[in-house]
Amino acid sequence: MTHSQRRFLTPPALLVGLAVALALIGLAATRLTGAQAAAPAQDTQPGNEVCLGCHQQPGMTMELESGEQLYVSVDPAQFGKSVHSKAGVACAVCHTDIFGYPHPERTAKNLREYSLLYQNTCKICHEAKYQVDSVHRQAFENGDPNAPICTDCHNPHTQAQVKDEQGNLIPEELGKSPEICAKCHNGIYEEYANTVHGVAAAKGNTDVPVCITCHGLHQIEDPTTAQFRLNSPKLCGECHSNKTIMDKYGLSTDVYNTYVADFHGTTVTLFQKLSPDQETNKAVCYDCHGVHNIRAVDDPQAGLEIKQNMLLACQKCHPDANINFPDSWLSHYTPSPTRYPLVYYVNLFYKFFIPLVLGVMGIFVLSDIYKKVTTRVKRGGKSPAPEQKES
Ligand code: HEC
Ligand code: HEC
Ligand code: HEC
Ligand code: HEC
Ligand code: HEC
Ligand code: HEC
Ligand code: HEC
Ligand code: HEC
Ligand code: HEC
Repeated sequence: MTHSQRRFLTPPALLVGLAVALALIGLAATRLTGAQAAAPAQDTQPGNEVCLGCHQQPGMTMELESGEQLYVSVDPAQFGKSVHSKAGVACAVCHTDIFGYPHPERTAKNLREYSLLYQNTCKICHEAKYQVDSVHRQAFENGDPNAPICTDCHNPHTQAQVKDEQGNLIPEELGKSPEICAKCHNGIYEEYANTVHGVAAAKGNTDVPVCITCHGLHQIEDPTTAQFRLNSPKLCGECHSNKTIMDKYGLSTDVYNTYVADFHGTTVTLFQKLSPDQETNKAVCYDCHGVHNIRAVDDPQAGLEIKQNMLLACQKCHPDANINFPDSWLSHYTPSPTRYPLVYYVNLFYKFFIPLVLGVMGIFVLSDIYKKVTTRVKRGGKSPAPEQKES
C-alpha cells in the first residue's frame, strides 16, 4: 500500500486528531518515565489513548489497491466493553509493529489479504486454538481463501466474554452463535432458523441444539462421512432420551430406544459398534426428520404426522411405498393394548408361548437324559459298544 492510496480524514478532522494524539503521546511519555524503571521495554509502546486519539474519529477509512475501503475507526466505548479491554490487553499488545504515525506500510491489496496479514495475532495468547484439526483449518491449509480464520468469527475489538466462571458458554452467546456461521453458511442458517430447534435457540433456550452442538466448537469434523452418520442417532438421542429435558416439552423419550430396536436402528447401531467406517443405507433420525429443517411432528405443513409427509420420507429409500406402507412400521411407539393392539397381543402371546415351549422341551430333554443315565446304571456301567457292533 502506498501513500497515494490512503484516503485521509478531512484536513480539519485530521488536524484535531493529530493535535490530540500529539498531546496524548506527550502525556503518555511523561507517564511512562515512571514505569520505565520497572519495565524499560515498555517505553516504546504507546497507551490506548494515543491510538484512540486518532482512531475514535468516526468515518475513518483507508482505501486498498482493490478499491475496497477498510474502516479504521475504533469506538472507544465499544472497545471498553470488550473482553480484551477488560482483561487489560492494550491496542499495542496486538498491533505489535505500530508505535506512532505514520504506520508501517501494508502489502494487502484487498480486505481478505488484509485480514490474513493479522491471522496469527491471536496466537500470542490463544495458541491452543490453532492446534485443532477441523474442516475449516483443512480448507485454510488447502488454500481456500474463504476458509474462516479467527477474525471472521470474532471481532477482537468488540468480542464479548463468552464463558462463565465454570467454563460453560453463556446462554445468550450460545443462542447468538448460529449468526456467526450464517456469514458463510447462510442457506443452512435460514433453514435452521425456522425449525423447532432454531426458533427456540434464538429465544435463548439452551435445551435445543445450535450449529456448534452438533458440529463442535472449533474442532468441526466432516459431517458427510459414514462415521458421522452412524453416530448421529446417539447425538439426537443424548437429548431426546433425557427425561429431565423432554418432560418440559411433553415429548416422548422412547424415540431413541424404539429406533434402536427397529429394523433400521438395529443395523445402524451394530455398524456403529463394529465397523464405524462402513456406509449404511438404513434410515437414521435425520433421513426421516430432516437435518437442518427439523419440524414439530404436528407442524401443519411439514409435520411427519401428516401421512403424505411421512410417505415422502419413506419413499427416499422405499421408492415403491404406497400410502399404506408407513403402517407396516410401529413409528416410535412401543405396542400397547391401545396402540398396535395386535402387535401387542402377539408379542404378549410369544412372551408366554416361547418360555412355555422352551420349558416343555427342557423337561423333555432332561427326562430323556435321566432315562439314559438310569438305564446305563442298571446295566452296571457296561459299555454299549458291543451292542452297536451287533446291530
Ligand atoms: C496521528 C493519528 C494516528 C495515531 C496516533 C494512530 N493511528 Fe492508526 N491510523 C491512522 C490513520 C489516518 C490510518 C489510515 C491509514 C494510514 O493513513 O496509515 C490508520 C490506520 C491504522 C491501522 C490499519 C492499517 C494497518 O496498519 O493495519 C491500524 C491497525 C492502526 N491504525 C492501529 C493503530 C494503533 C494500534 C495505534 C496506537 C499504537 C495507532 N493506530 C495510532 C491514524 C493514527
Ligand atoms: C486482541 C487483539 C487486538 C487488540 C487489543 C486491538 N486490536 Fe486492532 N486489530 C486486531 C486484529 C487481529 C485486526 C485485523 C482484523 C481483520 O481481520 O480485519 C485489527 C484491526 C485493526 C484496525 C483495522 C480496521 C479493522 O477493524 O480491521 C484498526 C484501525 C485497529 N485494529 C485499531 C486498534 C485500536 C485503536 C486498538 C485499541 C483501542 C486495537 N486495535 C486493539 C487485533 C487487536
Ligand atoms: C495479549 C493476549 C491476547 C491476544 C493477542 C488475544 N487475546 Fe483473546 N483474550 C485474552 C484474555 C486475557 C482474555 C480474557 C480471559 C479469558 O477468559 O480467556 C481473552 C478472551 C477472549 C475471548 C473470550 C473468551 C471467554 O472466556 O469468554 C475470545 C473469543 C478471544 N479472546 C478471542 C481472541 C481472538 C480471536 C484473538 C485474535 C484476534 C485474540 N483473542 C487475541 C488475551 C488475548
Ligand atoms: C467458524 C467460526 C470460528 C472460528 C474460525 C473461530 N472461532 Fe472461536 N468461537 C466460535 C464460537 C461460535 C464460539 C462460542 C462462543 C460464541 O458463541 O461466541 C467461540 C469461542 C471461542 C473462545 C471461548 C471459548 C473457548 O473455547 O475457550 C475463544 C477463546 C475463541 N473462540 C478463540 C478463537 C481463536 C483464537 C480462533 C482462531 C484460531 C477462533 N476462535 C476461531 C467460532 C469460531
Ligand atoms: C468465513 C466463512 C465461514 C464461516 C464463518 C463458517 N464457515 Fe464453515 N466452512 C467454510 C468453508 C470455506 C468451508 C469448506 C468448504 C466447504 O466444504 O463448504 C466450510 C466447511 C464447513 C463444514 C463442512 C462441510 C462439508 O461439506 O464438509 C461444516 C460442518 C461447517 N463449515 C460448519 C460451520 C459452523 C458450525 C460454523 C459456525 C460456528 C461455520 N461453519 C462458520 C466457511 C465458513
Ligand atoms: C441437530 C444437529 C445439527 C444442527 C443443529 C446443525 N447441523 Fe449441520 N449437519 C448435521 C448433520 C447430521 C449433517 C450431515 C448431513 C448429511 O450428511 O446429509 C450436517 C451437515 C452440515 C454441513 C455439510 C453438508 C451440507 O449440507 O452442506 C454444513 C456446512 C452444516 N451442517 C452447517 C451447519 C450450520 C451452519 C448449522 C447452524 C445454522 C448447523 N449445521 C446446524 C447436524 C446438525
Ligand atoms: C423411519 C423414519 C423415522 C426415523 C428413523 C426416526 N423417526 Fe422420529 N418420528 C418419525 C415419525 C413418522 C414420527 C411421528 C410419529 C407419529 O405421531 O406417528 C416421529 C416422531 C418423533 C418425535 C416426536 C415425539 C413426540 O413425543 O411427539 C421425536 C422427538 C422424534 N421422532 C425423534 C427421533 C429421533 C431422535 C430419532 C433417532 C434416534 C428418530 N426420531 C428416528 C419418523 C422417524
Ligand atoms: C441439545 C439437545 C437436542 C439435540 C442434540 C437434538 N434435539 Fe431435537 N429437540 C430438543 C428439544 C429441547 C426440543 C423441543 C423444542 C421445543 O418444543 O421448543 C426438540 C424438538 C425436536 C423435534 C420436534 C418434536 C415435536 O413434535 O415437537 C424433533 C422431530 C426433533 N427434536 C428431532 C431431533 C433430531 C432428529 C435430532 C438429531 C439430528 C435432534 N432432535 C437433536 C433437543 C435436542
Ligand atoms: C435412508 C433410507 C431409509 C428410509 C428413509 C426409510 N427406510 Fe425403511 N428400510 C431401509 C432399509 C435399507 C431397509 C432394509 C431393507 C432390506 O433389508 O431389505 C429398511 C427396512 C424397512 C422395513 C422392514 C421391511 C422391509 O421392507 O425390509 C420397514 C417396514 C421399513 N423399512 C419401513 C420404513 C418406513 C415406514 C419409513 C418411513 C417412515 C422408512 N422405512 C424409511 C431404509 C430406509
